[in-house]
Amino acid sequence: MSWVRITGTASFPLRQGRKVVIQEHELAVFNLGNGKYAAVDNACPHRGGPLCDGIVTGDTVVCPLHGWKTDLETGHVVKPDICVRTLRYEVQVEDGMLSIKLPAAASLY
Ligand code: FES
Repeated sequence: MSWVRITGTASFPLRQGRKVVIQEHELAVFNLGNGKYAAVDNACPHRGGPLCDGIVTGDTVVCPLHGWKTDLETGHVVKPDICVRTLRYEVQVEDGMLSIKLPAAASLY
């Protein structure tokens, strides 16, 4: 696993998602407010809808295609109540720069 610097936190408006592409990884990154950010695969576990375009409510995002709700803290789908999840990535902010922890194969440095 390696940390990859993405960009300044100002690029992530409050309660909105942004698509971030790093090599073969397409992620949805969210500013949840109060200094909290989350990153998950940008593919809904239902049929691959773009989670970055979903509606953020609390710590969850509602998929824009069919309305499945994913908890951004755990990656688990919470509505409908089924045992499915999307891959979640660790996020950190240092000196106003957002970084995401990716598998070693995706390391940029
Ligand atoms: S693709 Fe996301 S709910 Fe169907």
